[in-house]
This record gives sequence, C-alpha cells and structure tokens, in this order.
Amino acid sequence: MPVDSKKLVKKACQHIKPVEKFECETQRSTTTDGETIKFDYMWATHLSDEDFEWVFSLFKENMYDMYHKSQWGYDENSKRNELRATTSRFIIAKNSKGDKIGYTTYRFVVDHNIPVAYCWELQIVPAYQNKGIGGMMLDTLEKLSSKTNMSKVMATVFLYNGPSLGFFHKHGYNSDVTCPSDDSGLDYAILSKETPST
Ligand SMILES: CC(C)(COP(=O)(O)OP(=O)(O)OC[C@H]1O[C@@H](n2cnc3c(N)ncnc32)[C@H](O)[C@@H]1OP(=O)(O)O)[C@@H](O)C(=O)NCCC(=O)NCCS
Repeated sequence: MPVDSKKLVKKACQHIKPVEKFECETQRSTTTDGETIKFDYMWATHLSDEDFEWVFSLFKENMYDMYHKSQWGYDENSKRNELRATTSRFIIAKNSKGDKIGYTTYRFVVDHNIPVAYCWELQIVPAYQNKGIGGMMLDTLEKLSSKTNMSKVMATVFLYNGPSLGFFHKHGYNSDVTCPSDDSGLDYAILSKETPST
C-alpha cells in the first residue's frame, strides 16, 4: 500500500471536527418545500445512547427488507458495531423544530490502495425523502473529501435499490473501478465520484 494513502487517511481520521475545520458545510440548507435544515457533526463514539438508538432504528426502518433479501443477509449485531466503529463519523440533519430527520455516516479509509471518504450509510426519514437533504449531505462529503486530499467519495448500493442508484447517479456518481461486473452474480454496486484535491 502506498505510504501516502495510509498517511493521508491517518491524518484525516485524527481531526476531531473535520467538517468545521475545513469549512466544508454545504451552502444549501433549505428543502425543496422551504424548510431550513441544520446539521450536527460528530464522531460515532461521541453519539449518546439515545441518538445511537435513533440512528439504528432509522437504518432498520429504511433498510431491513433490503438487507433481509440480500446476499449479506440482515445481521443486527454486526451492523450496530459498524455504525458505532471508532472510525465512523456522523452528519445528522435536523428540521426546523430540531427533530432528527436523517444522517450519513462516513469513514476515511484506504480502499484498494486509494484514500477515500466512504459514505457508509445515508438514511433520511421517509417523510423527508426527495426534498434535497441527501444531496446536501453528499455536497458536504465531497468538499470534505477534497479538503482532506482523499481521491473520491465512495458508496455501496444494492442493485435493487432503484431510488438510491438514481440519487447517486443524479449527483454524478458512476460505477467505481472496483464495482463487481454485471456477470458477477453479486447484488450490489460500488459507486464513486472523484473529488479534486485543493
Ligand atoms: C436515497 C436517499 C438517501 C436519498 O436522499 P434524499 O434526501 O431523499 O435525496 P434528494 O432529495 O437529495 O435527491 C433525490 C433525487 O434522487 C433521484 N431519485 C430518487 N428516486 C429515484 C428513482 N426511483 N429513480 C431515479 N432517480 C431517483 C432523483 O433525481 C431525485 O431528485 P429530483 O427528483 O429532484 O431530480 C433517501 O431517499 C433515503 O434515505 N432512502 C431510503 C434509504 C436508502 O436507500 N438509503 C441509501 C442506502 S445506499
């Protein structure tokens, strides 16, 4: 593994408040129907138990059926550990009343020797989907990827999750070089978008 990739990821992981430090907050804060959204940024290890249970319950509400039928299957303990990993970082969206309405969790990782910002989960509560909030969070992740000298933002999406594939394609994501081929028999795609270094 190139030493630089490892060093860059190690450095990015050490920032306590990377979004604030590098001023990567999205400039968009209004939903398509005019509501102002605010964002909190934190390490997974700094989430309260109550916030973590909300994170997990939204994951389950949105994704249980998809995981249940997937080749990976639904493994609650392993998903809980993933979401709370020390390397996980969170962006939590709140509506104008201060209620939590969505989140993304991302990690800085070396993937196939390349330093990347991996969008590990992106979940919006059903009533707030398709109002631009997921796009705001991707915007922040892409800026953060650039500012921390990661090469791209990556995401893994089930092939039968049409809305999510459509969402990522709309935001300029394409099949990553590491995406399984059409004849692989696997039920997920790996998408990515390169981010310019600044
Ligand atoms: C997928 C998800 C994260 C997107 O976030 P969002 O806030 O709803 O998305 P945005 O409003 O920012 O953008 C929606 C865009 O996605 C695209 N989209 C949505 N559904 C689509 C579909 N079925 N086919 C094609 N494109 C679609 C559209 O282009 C839409 O934009 P437009 O209608 O304004 O042109 C969110 O809907 C969600 O939480 N879904 C359930 C959980 C999930 O699948 N998470 C992703 C796991 S990888």
